[in-house]
Amino acid sequence: MTSEQLSTDHLLGIQDLTREDIELIFRTADDFKEVLARPIKKVPSLRDITIANLFFENSTRTRVSFELAEKRLSADVINFSASSGSTKKGETLVDTVNNILAMKVDMVVMRHPEPGAAVFLSKHVAARIVNAGDGTHEHPTQALLDAYSIREKLGKVKGVRVAIVGDIQHSRVALSNIHCLKKLGAEVMLCGPTTLMPKYAASLGVKVEHDLDKALAWCDVANMLRIQLERQGGDGINNFPSLREYSIMYGLDLARYQRIGKDVVIMHPGPINRGVEVTSEVADHANSIILDQVQNGVAVRMAVLYLLAARIPRASQA
Ligand code: NCD
Repeated sequence: MTSEQLSTDHLLGIQDLTREDIELIFRTADDFKEVLARPIKKVPSLRDITIANLFFENSTRTRVSFELAEKRLSADVINFSASSGSTKKGETLVDTVNNILAMKVDMVVMRHPEPGAAVFLSKHVAARIVNAGDGTHEHPTQALLDAYSIREKLGKVKGVRVAIVGDIQHSRVALSNIHCLKKLGAEVMLCGPTTLMPKYAASLGVKVEHDLDKALAWCDVANMLRIQLERQGGDGINNFPSLREYSIMYGLDLARYQRIGKDVVIMHPGPINRGVEVTSEVADHANSIILDQVQNGVAVRMAVLYLLAARIPRASQA
């Protein structure tokens, strides 16, 4: 395993990583992918490290993926879930986390509904922080596993044209993906209805397109984001007339996919609303790498945890 180090003590957002950091994470993830293919999928690297997974917002796959990554690295793991209501104020959050840290925890993986919660925590507690999603802000490990999966499928990220489709406005996956893909030299296009496109989109150095067929004709990879109904207030649907209309305008079904006339790689961060963003035939298509994304998530998270732990002075690396 490498002795190179990340340039940062925490993973709060892709914005804090250099291109070299991202490439180091990918090379380390390659090694862990090889470990995960062995009959015994476990290494002793984080044997002396305790990690708390603090989830203040619902999550299934991200929480399971982190927990598996931690266990494959032989870390001691504790899980804490809380409804967002009880920890709305910063002080309460610091108190909660300090109580957990008093039990000698080295790293915290946190998902929280407030943008900036991970940055805030990193300034107030003595542990390595990994942001597992902070509101509509960033979801750095998702972007890393997405770019890693593109690199695996197409052999490179530089120069690849990626269309990110759907609810850009409410998506932390979109923002982290934009930063990550651009750092790696990909071309990025955002596609969705005006009502789900942030006003600052053009300032991010990406193309903006409202016609899905044009975006699909342009791209090599289409990352179909979930409509974040839970972030849209009320019954959710107030940015477009109906889910049915959304899926006609911005959903990808087999007929539309076949009309592109080339092998566009299909991605989705999950959980999928089958029949809204993509139909089942598209989600399960030979050019879909949706399950590869899930599988790569474990190796990429192992790499992030391993590299951050290497920066803890007392960690003994195996
Ligand atoms: C993403 C998230 O939570 O931001 N999902 C995930 O990490 N499994 C994307 C989404 O919820 O749509």
